[in-house]
Amino acid sequence: MSRYWSTVVNGLTPYVPGEQPKLPNLIKLNTNESPYGPSPRVLAALRAEVGDSLRLYPDPGCDGLRESIAAFHKLKPAQVFVGNGSDEVLAHTFLALLKHDKPVLFPDISYSFYPVYCALYGIAYKQVPLTESFEIRVDDYMKPNGGIVFPNPNAPTGRPLALGEIERLLQANAASVVVIDEAYVDYGAESAVGLISRYPQLLVVHTLSKSRSLAGLRVGYALGDAGLIEALVRVKDSFNSYPLGRFAQAGAAAALEDRAYFERSCAKVVATRTRMANDLASLGFEVLPSAANFVFARHPGHDGAELAAKLRERGVLVRHFGTPQRIAQFLRITVGTDAQCEALIEALRTILV
Ligand SMILES: Cc1ncc(COP(=O)(O)O)c(C=O)c1O
Repeated sequence: MSRYWSTVVNGLTPYVPGEQPKLPNLIKLNTNESPYGPSPRVLAALRAEVGDSLRLYPDPGCDGLRESIAAFHKLKPAQVFVGNGSDEVLAHTFLALLKHDKPVLFPDISYSFYPVYCALYGIAYKQVPLTESFEIRVDDYMKPNGGIVFPNPNAPTGRPLALGEIERLLQANAASVVVIDEAYVDYGAESAVGLISRYPQLLVVHTLSKSRSLAGLRVGYALGDAGLIEALVRVKDSFNSYPLGRFAQAGAAAALEDRAYFERSCAKVVATRTRMANDLASLGFEVLPSAANFVFARHPGHDGAELAAKLRERGVLVRHFGTPQRIAQFLRITVGTDAQCEALIEALRTILV
């Protein structure tokens, strides 16, 4: 707190990201990165970008990248907005499309950046409780609102929502924007992108940080009706004209163009997830069904915070959320390579004895 701070800053409780350790050799299963490197075509595109042209600003409209994204999703470039990670895309979305008199609705257990954006931009919000089994029930969102946002699959639970349910919500909710945050959709949930042509209030947000193995490049995007995209561009051009540098634009376009590599690395993660979930269950964990690259699990006989601390002593990082109380016993564990997941299970065996 400083007398020079604005009242907005004095009132902020910033989002706390998972630890990015400086220590080498830790098994890092705490921030849902891919355990596999990016496509070789991405690395070649990045190397090709090293040169004199770096003295010039990048394309402010990211036209080449938006064309690659549009081609991948069978949409038009005017239906694509790109940003510096999907966090930035989401931040612009809250300001551009979700700031109204009525409150924006999102689940009580969800991506904990949403309330942070609301506080930053002075947006009213209401958290809608998940069911007993940690599921989103769309009927609970069918009330007056200034917008609706949730991840599918949800984070940190990993539970997916069927596309039919999302469509039912869109049919009932035409007066405000519905944002589906599909950060983890490539690991087994049904994407809502196919509904964009029929629902002009639908915005779908994707990231290259997970299934494209590019968390270090910082690229995310939104897909929706050109009118929604124009609102995001207006905010972006009132904030930072060049959010994506030349490396980010070139690397991200190459990632979108290498579909085979992307599909192979998602399939490997999904196969390891099944093994890891079974191994955790055989150690006595209750594991929620996951369609993401992480699982959410609790052990009836062991405290969540203690388990996370003991795993860290053994060189394995997982994510533990102290609040809300309902999830305080859970660990969110990223799916790593087979070897990393085996090391996790071994470490747990020594802890649980
Ligand atoms: C649900 C959800 N949405 C969005 C993001 C942001 O991803 P990024 O800013 O790396 O694109 C994350 C990151 O963990 C997430 O879990």
